[in-house]
Amino acid sequence: TVADIAVLIGAYLLGSVPFGLVLTRLAGLGDIRQIGSGNIGATNVLRTGRKDLALLTLLLDAGKGAIAVLLVRHFFDPGLAMFAGAVAFIGHCFPVFLRFQGGKGVATFFGTLIAMHPVIALFTVGCWLLTAVMFKMSSLAALLAAFVAPAVAHMIAPGMAPVFILFMSLVIFIRHKENIQRIAKGAEPKIGGSKSNSE
Ligand code: G3P
Repeated sequence: TVADIAVLIGAYLLGSVPFGLVLTRLAGLGDIRQIGSGNIGATNVLRTGRKDLALLTLLLDAGKGAIAVLLVRHFFDPGLAMFAGAVAFIGHCFPVFLRFQGGKGVATFFGTLIAMHPVIALFTVGCWLLTAVMFKMSSLAALLAAFVAPAVAHMIAPGMAPVFILFMSLVIFIRHKENIQRIAKGAEPKIGGSKSNSE
């Protein structure tokens, strides 16, 4: 229906808000797209040295995914909630406000998962944390988490959840193409690594 489409456009616009870019610009740090990996996400905001802004970026980017799911579930149509979350995630990766050149979707993916299915979120975020602590690479952690999430969803979640999660995981892999190439070359910067190490 027209209302469904309007709600999904709203979710897309919400997901399109590039919080990492906005926060770093407000803090006078310049354009985050010129720093580190050039990504607009929390990992790259951390490379500015501002842990507070990185944490805020993580929370807001995850929050917009979660909010899209929760608002649609409670105030519109529960049947459309997961779709809205996936659309917000697509907004983050391909935002209209940045000529569709957006982020890699990891935080927004986690946010939608938390709202969609907390148990899957727990496994997925747990996998991210474990990998991040072990290998100190945000991208590798994201790739493993994106690999685990659809498998866990397939085992424990009914209906369309595994399909939406698999779709988002595939987009995460595509968005990490350059990271994958760097990981293969042993050139991916470590979390909290030295300046020279972070490109
Ligand atoms: O969330 C994105 C992360 O997986 C990689 O970010 O800046 O290291 O490319 P970055």
